[in-house]
Amino acid sequence: MQDIETLESEILTKISAAGDLDALEAVRIAALGKKGEVSLMMRGLGQMAPEERQVVAPKLNKMKQSLLEAIDQAKDGLNRKAMEEKLATESIDITLAARPESQGRIHPISQVVDEITEIFADMGFTIAEGPDIEDDFHNFTALNIPPEHPARQMHDTFYLPEKEDGSRQLLRTHTSSVQIRTMMSEEPPHRIVVPGRTYRSDSDQTHTPMFNQIEGLVIDKTSHMGHLKGVLKEFCRAFFEVDNVEMRFRPSYFPFTEPSAEMDIRCTFAGDHIKIGEGDDWMEILGCGMVNPRVLEHCGLDPKEYQGFAWGMGIDRIAMLKYGIPDLRAFFDCDLRWLKHYGFVPLDVPTIGGGLSR
Ligand code: DAH
Repeated sequence: MQDIETLESEILTKISAAGDLDALEAVRIAALGKKGEVSLMMRGLGQMAPEERQVVAPKLNKMKQSLLEAIDQAKDGLNRKAMEEKLATESIDITLAARPESQGRIHPISQVVDEITEIFADMGFTIAEGPDIEDDFHNFTALNIPPEHPARQMHDTFYLPEKEDGSRQLLRTHTSSVQIRTMMSEEPPHRIVVPGRTYRSDSDQTHTPMFNQIEGLVIDKTSHMGHLKGVLKEFCRAFFEVDNVEMRFRPSYFPFTEPSAEMDIRCTFAGDHIKIGEGDDWMEILGCGMVNPRVLEHCGLDPKEYQGFAWGMGIDRIAMLKYGIPDLRAFFDCDLRWLKHYGFVPLDVPTIGGGLSR
């Protein structure tokens, strides 16, 4: 029989030389498997004379024990090594700054919507949304534009095919429809802004059939024109990023507000550039007014108890103004070169604290 100590040290050497778990398992099987060297020797004990067996058996048992321990230890070591390698190759250095080289760009309209909603959110407004496909009631009637009202013509509405009951849905012509949806589905007070797509059958250098608006609505028991002015002034100051914006309110007419006004801001037109906040020119940027009592009534609110103000503004034009974009139609051309030039880096999210348009 082979010398037990020599065999043990040979196997121990093989165990420590095993480079991975598979190699270690092969060594284990060769020594301690059913037909392994050690197992065969143990089976040989049966043929030995009792005196000899008494000497050899404890030695074999001791060897087996020490081999098992060595294999366990080696296994632990290999597992740890595998884990460390995995951690080293899969690690991410989270202290690294985000890479600025992303290819995608945020469309200027999305950027401007984010900027505007950020400003109003900071003043305590929430964002409301409504469907692009509307019905006559929400888009017109509830806003005090009854069927024969001339304002309906001005809206150049896109209608959907007539339904069996004779009614026709339409593509909303303004975001004002969401005022109605909000007042009818939630309890006052209301303080919302509504960005969204709007549609009118109109197309030239300054009009596209689909365009973007943002609507504002405040309803409570005490808000008045003074608050409207304050809110809009703060908005202009923050949005155009100038300390002082001079505004002018001109009397106007909208069926859903009474009184109604259009708001202009002071500016200078110099060639194709515009400077906001100073100069001898005025630019109209929105329509506004106190919500007409009839609109409140349509929404089930008592005008003796509730009042408030609203405004509506085209987003595309003020985006053009702020970012010096000359042609409205390019907004909707999906030209990647244009987007690369005028678009915004995705991680530059506009915030009041960090700056809107850095
Ligand atoms: N809905 C108007 C439009 O599309 C804009 C507007 C004017 C909205 C005055 C208002 C408002 O809420 O008070 O031209």
